[in-house]
Amino acid sequence: MCGIIGYIGTDRATDVILDGLSSLEYRGYDSAGIAINDRGLRIRKAKGRLSNLRDQIEECQFPEGHVGIGHTRWATHGEPSDVNSHPHLDEGRHIAVVHNGIIENFSELREELQAKGVHFASETDTEVIPNLMYQYYRQCGNAMEAIRLAAGDMRGSYALGVIFADDEERLYAVRKDSPLILGRGDGENFIASDIPAILPYTRDIYLLNDNEIAVLGRKTIEIYGAGGEKVEREIFHVHWDVKAAEKNGYEHFMLKEIFEQPEVVRATIVPRLSMNEEQVKLDRIHITKEELDNTNRIYIVACGTAYHAGLVGKYLLEKMARLPVWAETASEFRYRDPVLDSHSLVIVISQSGETADTLAALRMAKRAGARVMAIVNVVGSTMDREAENVLYTWAGPEIAVASTKAYSCQLAAMYLLVLYLSRMQGTLSREEFAILRQELYALPEEIQSILERAESIRHIVASTVQKSVFYIGRGLDYYASMEGSLKLKEIAYIHSEAYAAGELKHGPIAMIDGDTLVIGLITQQELTEKTVSNLKEVKARGAKVICIAEEGNEKVTEAADEVIWIPKSHPMAASLLANIVQQLFAYYMAVKLGNDVDKPRNLAKSVTVE
Ligand code: F6R
Repeated sequence: MCGIIGYIGTDRATDVILDGLSSLEYRGYDSAGIAINDRGLRIRKAKGRLSNLRDQIEECQFPEGHVGIGHTRWATHGEPSDVNSHPHLDEGRHIAVVHNGIIENFSELREELQAKGVHFASETDTEVIPNLMYQYYRQCGNAMEAIRLAAGDMRGSYALGVIFADDEERLYAVRKDSPLILGRGDGENFIASDIPAILPYTRDIYLLNDNEIAVLGRKTIEIYGAGGEKVEREIFHVHWDVKAAEKNGYEHFMLKEIFEQPEVVRATIVPRLSMNEEQVKLDRIHITKEELDNTNRIYIVACGTAYHAGLVGKYLLEKMARLPVWAETASEFRYRDPVLDSHSLVIVISQSGETADTLAALRMAKRAGARVMAIVNVVGSTMDREAENVLYTWAGPEIAVASTKAYSCQLAAMYLLVLYLSRMQGTLSREEFAILRQELYALPEEIQSILERAESIRHIVASTVQKSVFYIGRGLDYYASMEGSLKLKEIAYIHSEAYAAGELKHGPIAMIDGDTLVIGLITQQELTEKTVSNLKEVKARGAKVICIAEEGNEKVTEAADEVIWIPKSHPMAASLLANIVQQLFAYYMAVKLGNDVDKPRNLAKSVTVE
């Protein structure tokens, strides 16, 4: 949730850190702060956007030090304010810490420290960390040992960047259940919660594991295990293009990412689906036919948008591979007692590969002896490393908080998995497979043809003023409508609900009046008549109706005030296309309302706390 960056080198640390924070701001934007060691710890922090911090730093002629840490915060404990912003210091200003995560036992630790006479300045859980470290540091005089001992007292999740006032030659990092990477440069080294922050400087990174402590000098990076033993780690080379994390002339990252979809969906599908093969090639999926036969239930577990991709997966795996599948949000799954054993397969879906609830579900499944598969976007993320089977979505870095291209790639990956398991199950003939392969090959161009209609969607948005919105659909369209509704809520702040079209008359239809907009998705031919009659029901009650439907399906015009046409395609993929329209609809609505599209209020990318 929060973004962390740390730097040690020969450049002005403030510049590198501010630069890194600007690419991390999507992780949280309640406040930002920086600590530099320049003959003592110099701190600056500011509530609100990074630009506030930048302004303050320019005004006060911030010092020149070459080692420092920075943070962009999404508030958990304590309201967004200057004092609650990171970095936090111990009372005597010996140690500065930036933290991502939550210290669950912070109240106990705080009381213990208060009993020893320590005074606290903020309401945050984080402030206990430098104070706790200092207690140990005072006793042992060894920074790494102090960090290790303090970490041993803390419960919860943390990724920490730490600097000590009496040492300008070292920067420390430690993590547990919260992402943190180390970047290796030339005479300079970095820590960061996320790859884009250091991409302009290096693509050589080390992945830090839980409970490991890293000690960074200008020319050295050392990693130690929880017991203090030195650990050898291989360099992990990031292939992302620096440009992928820049706006490239688009007004917003979200718009850029929407327009990248033909390319990234192609990158996700084509290498796995060769022309002459009769099966999909999935490198890191190791499930055998025997194991699949031995599997009596599949759970797809994820959060938010990724969960919506999971619902599509459930629908298609049942329909095409005839496998029993349950899709569930991770925050629910992990706190009930699902039937999980060696006959279960748990598929988690996550763009970041770090979402706390999804990760907890993955670990719970592993503990229960279930087979685990992760569909992830960030290579090297925790889920990537912990799942035995992995299917990557090649969406590249997704910077806008609202997920667009990652979702389309999750669907594309899901289609591949459906084909793969259906072939394994024997429920998909060679001929049917060949037809679907053609359909998937055509998908990027179909997406492109919708993007070319963006201007007409913007016009429809310009003339839409309704206060309340329902998205309705049946089957796959229902799941797509959930995603459309989420997008509108999160960036346009318009209250909307997704409803299974047939359910509307069981209650919610009472809400329909002249102020309501109903967006009907009709991409599943055989369900056209049913949804059209539901749309007629709401239109008769005064609602404005916009329909998203396949070209040639003229029946929909009977019920709609406006129709946004999408190219005709296979039913499996059609709702992906309908969702591109929904993305543009929400985007233009948010722009029209003057909202901060890339950083919607109250949200943060990558939810690494519960
Ligand atoms: C919505 C959105 C979120 C994420 C959710 C899961 O636009 O982005 O709902 O989909 O927080 O995140 P990941 O996929 O990183 O696990």
